[in-house]
Amino acid sequence: MMMMMTHLIVVGAQWGDEGKAKVVDQLAEFADMVVRSQGGSNAGHTVKFKGETFKFHHLPSGLLYEEKACVIGPGVVLAPHFLKEELDSIHAKGYSTKNLKISDRCHITFPYHVAQDKQQETLRSSHNGSKIGTTGKGIGPTYMDKVGRMGIRVADLFESEITLKTQLQTILTQKELTELFTLETLYTLALEYKAILAPYACDTLALLQDALKAGKQLLFEGAQGTLLDVDFGTYPFVTSSNATAGGACTGTGVGPSKIDATLGVMKAYLTRVGEGPFPTELSDTVVGERICEIGVEYGTTTGRKRRVGWFDAVIARFGVEVNGLDGIALTKLDVLDSFETIDVCTGYVHVETGAHYDRLPTSLATLSQLKPVYETHQGWLADTTACQTFEALPPNCQAYVKRLEVLMDCPVWMVSVGPDREQTLMRRHPFALEKV
Ligand code: IMP
Repeated sequence: MMMMMTHLIVVGAQWGDEGKAKVVDQLAEFADMVVRSQGGSNAGHTVKFKGETFKFHHLPSGLLYEEKACVIGPGVVLAPHFLKEELDSIHAKGYSTKNLKISDRCHITFPYHVAQDKQQETLRSSHNGSKIGTTGKGIGPTYMDKVGRMGIRVADLFESEITLKTQLQTILTQKELTELFTLETLYTLALEYKAILAPYACDTLALLQDALKAGKQLLFEGAQGTLLDVDFGTYPFVTSSNATAGGACTGTGVGPSKIDATLGVMKAYLTRVGEGPFPTELSDTVVGERICEIGVEYGTTTGRKRRVGWFDAVIARFGVEVNGLDGIALTKLDVLDSFETIDVCTGYVHVETGAHYDRLPTSLATLSQLKPVYETHQGWLADTTACQTFEALPPNCQAYVKRLEVLMDCPVWMVSVGPDREQTLMRRHPFALEKV
């Protein structure tokens, strides 16, 4: 296939865990650089490579290709001790991380952020039962300090002792942490973080801009998903970064005019971890349990059982619009192989007024009053995991995918029917430049 120079964003177009890592790992073969732009240790990306399973949190999924540069952009927040565990586990398996570059603008998660995350969750639960169900990694508080202009960036760790200590002391006082941490404890931690980050830290903006000028091909790897985006997700049940496509630009310093295409990853059904609304939820039903078991729906970062439900076309259309998706990678289609019937939500109806909704409302109170309107598809009752082309899929299976394309108003470029790289049916390669 003829490849053209393309800069591609890959985002999760549902509630995260759509299978982005497999898609990115596969597409990384065609890119020169894989770039992360937001999130941090909350992300959980599972990559299968040469028979081994790798679980990435901070690290870009392309890291196992030793000749590719992997970049962590300024929009990512870092938990250095946790990052070290990830790096150590990769080294233990005999792989190098010499091509990893971490932005010196990234903000750092300190233990007080993790403590604050847990404390906020406890308070939310006891006050009104509305805890978010965070991953407990300190993500929200780290971004709060970043926006509140009292964060510590990677570059700050490399300042002189007096400068760094002054900054840490200001934070201790401003955040009223003096009873919990001494300046010396934080300073010692900061030095440990510096040692972990030193081999990788640099100005990634310069690196990326030079790469663009040199005609290198960039692949931007999103974390979490559209419905977890702090501006567009089901707020407040969201993460604290922009998980939508725009975040790839603000989180790396690569301007929108440089992006050629955006690929959204969606499961052929729907999952969510943590609290918050989920109109098509099937958890605690026989069908839901079956999807969960067949799809092995347990979180990579926390091991939590994921909530599962039918494909929701309202949410999918929302993802297409807010990310400006050019194409979709539809994953885990094989999980539906044994279902006699498969429902798809095409819109919602208000339980009291009977009003029809084909868009996601902003108000969660309104959303909780909406029931899905389903259309029922006949299943295909056949194993799709060995299919090599889209045309080889059973007719009902092809019809299901084609119907989703109509409902989403976006073409499905890739279909995944299993965890291995070979189990991907490519209808249009995302790195081919011409738009369909
Ligand atoms: P936080 O990002 O830890 O603050 O968690 C906020 C919400 O985002 C919770 O509902 C988490 O379960 C969810 N979340 C965070 N990261 C991921 C992810 O990588 N996949 C799926 N859900 C996530």
